[in-house]
Amino acid sequence: MPELTTKILSNYFGVDKAWTYDFYVGHGGYETAKKVLSSMEPDAVTEEVKTSGLRGRGGAGFPTGLKWSFLAKPEGKPRYLCINADESEPGTFKDRQIMEWDPHMLIEGMIISSFALGVHTAFVYIRGEFHLPEVHLSQAVEECYAKGVLGKDVLGTGYALDIVVHRGAGAYICGEETALLESLEGKRGYPRLKPPFPAVEGLFGCPTIINNVESIANIPWILANGGEAYKGFGTEKSPGTRLYCVSGHVNRPGVYEAELGIPLMTLINEHAGGVRGGKKLKAVIPGGSSTPVLTPEQCADLTLCYEGVAAAGSMLGSGGVIVMDEDTDMVKVLVNLLRFYSHESCGQCSPCREGTGWLYKTMKNLLYGKGEAGELAKIEDIASNMENRTVCPLAAAATMPTRSYLKHFRLEFEAYLKQMELAGQR
Ligand SMILES: Cc1cc2nc3c(=O)[nH]c(=O)nc-3n(C[C@H](O)[C@H](O)[C@H](O)COP(=O)(O)O)c2cc1C
Ligand code: SF4
Repeated sequence: MPELTTKILSNYFGVDKAWTYDFYVGHGGYETAKKVLSSMEPDAVTEEVKTSGLRGRGGAGFPTGLKWSFLAKPEGKPRYLCINADESEPGTFKDRQIMEWDPHMLIEGMIISSFALGVHTAFVYIRGEFHLPEVHLSQAVEECYAKGVLGKDVLGTGYALDIVVHRGAGAYICGEETALLESLEGKRGYPRLKPPFPAVEGLFGCPTIINNVESIANIPWILANGGEAYKGFGTEKSPGTRLYCVSGHVNRPGVYEAELGIPLMTLINEHAGGVRGGKKLKAVIPGGSSTPVLTPEQCADLTLCYEGVAAAGSMLGSGGVIVMDEDTDMVKVLVNLLRFYSHESCGQCSPCREGTGWLYKTMKNLLYGKGEAGELAKIEDIASNMENRTVCPLAAAATMPTRSYLKHFRLEFEAYLKQMELAGQR
């Protein structure tokens, strides 16, 4: 049975000065990087990550080692590693904790990963609003240059690595990996068509790996303890631990590390102190606001792993668990979500640009008593027609939740229409 208390990433969250070089080194920091760089072959590092079964923590859960093995290695071109620290999905606030409390763990993960990939320049694309995480991370990078952990001779091993911290400017879409690359290149954050995939043609046209902060923060532990040991946590298809972000109507919202595969209700009731005010649970968004919403019946036996949440018709996504109590108006929740996604659409493709705006306006009209009969069917039809017809998945990030709210809480949406009909008859 997966444990509730296993910690790989959050051991020093909340500990004073844990973000400093002295603290990190005093607790065994950079020993693993030194050992790996001086005694392992790069491909053996990738194999160890493959063995661990680590899956990307940015949303899609793609196996990290497998992604690394796709990196093209053409003659005469540099390769890059980009760390996605944009973290803008509503309900998600874990990467900021890593960078605020333990930035050296991320840097050590970047050193080992860069070595495995043959990268000599790595980037962290950090959300512009993350002030303290950025300050701590940039200070940590500076300390590393001063101590010979970064630069021309990393840890005295002869390997060269530079790390560049780049601040975003407040666009959700720049968390999408190819928009992130455009933005890093100094252009407007428009997602690119794939293929070519970034592993073949990424930053400045060169092979690039993009990984989430939490994914890479796991790397030092995996190389220190072995991929097999990592697989000892979690489930067969979802190894390791996760930083779950619990928010909404709970007594103790926060970031909780636990093994993949723990029961959702244990996370809510034991870690997060249960639903606020002793109220009944009404709904849970399991993996950030773009994932389909679940009912209490679906949550009752749900285990938090990629396969468990997928079997319930949703996604583990970015680990953002949003809890809603019995007083929540699901129409208002959906209007709020649609306002966000229509505002954040980059406008590059018409099904997304027009569709997200139309969904938001139509839902808002329903909320304010201006809905029309038959509109729910039209919303479902348009939502399903927006999916898989766009350059990136942002359109689906708006339509998947929309369809799930209508499916599970339809009576509430119909009640708004009914009220309107009754008001018209008076
Ligand atoms: C609209 C959109 C926003 C995204 N935002 C983020 C983000 O803020 N952070 C992140 O790590 N991944 C985000 N992703 C996923 C990335 O495109 C990419 O899959 C991820 O960074 C890969 O890292 P991983 O393999 O380590 O999970 C987003 C995807 C989309 C479509
Ligand atoms: S789906 Fe939306 S956000 Fe993505 S590229 Fe098209 S318009 Fe932009």
